[in-house]
Amino acid sequence: IKSKLLPWFAENKRSMPWRNNRTPYRVWISELMLQQTRVDQATPYFRRFMKRFPSLRSLANASQEDVLKMWEGLGYYSRARNLHRAARIIANEMSGRFPSDYHDIIKLPGVGDYTAAAIGSLVFNQDRAVLDGNVIRVLSRLYAYTKDTRSTAARAELQQMTENLLVKGEAGSYNEAMMELGATVCLPMNPKCEVCPVVAACLAARSGRPTDYPVKAPRKKVPHIVVG
Ligand code: ADE
Ligand code: SF4
Repeated sequence: IKSKLLPWFAENKRSMPWRNNRTPYRVWISELMLQQTRVDQATPYFRRFMKRFPSLRSLANASQEDVLKMWEGLGYYSRARNLHRAARIIANEMSGRFPSDYHDIIKLPGVGDYTAAAIGSLVFNQDRAVLDGNVIRVLSRLYAYTKDTRSTAARAELQQMTENLLVKGEAGSYNEAMMELGATVCLPMNPKCEVCPVVAACLAARSGRPTDYPVKAPRKKVPHIVVG
């Protein structure tokens, strides 16, 4: 997997605005947007946001109203409020320097495991593995993983699995390659195993039933209460 994945990514990676001029600020904003929407939908939002707030400092100096306006349509306004707070913390308390270590990045408002690992690996070349929906799907198929991928125990195992696969010193490329494979080849309904760079190692493909994975237990029903 390690020897096939990165060369495939180098050949096949899509062009995205945040893949050029990679700064912590641009990667941070793009990864937040990508937690809410797909690449093609995030792209115009990202361009607009960068035009309006070209630097972390300009974001910190903006009014909350202006920031929420730029986020309109992306949903989850709490993300926009948190990113604004984080920008102000970095501008005012960290001399405008984005923290470079995973443990400091994750202390920022609105930054969880995924975002801290993405920034740490993509910008600062730290050996941190990200786990998002695409990565979970790819991993669960590669290993024909039968546990409920929504469970906390499975998440911890999947995190360990991707950390074991991670190419040391190339975590950023590894993470993006896994996400890209999930987004363009290992598709939810119609995985393109015939063109997949890691098919030789994939247990789900060997079983002939790749879409049996990831296993997801049904979500618990929200109790329906009739009032009146
Ligand atoms: N999805 C989330 N982050 C991504 C990235 N950096 N590249 C491609 N897809 C992504
Ligand atoms: Fe996904 Fe098929 Fe590739 Fe396995 S071989 S990782 S199921 S696309």
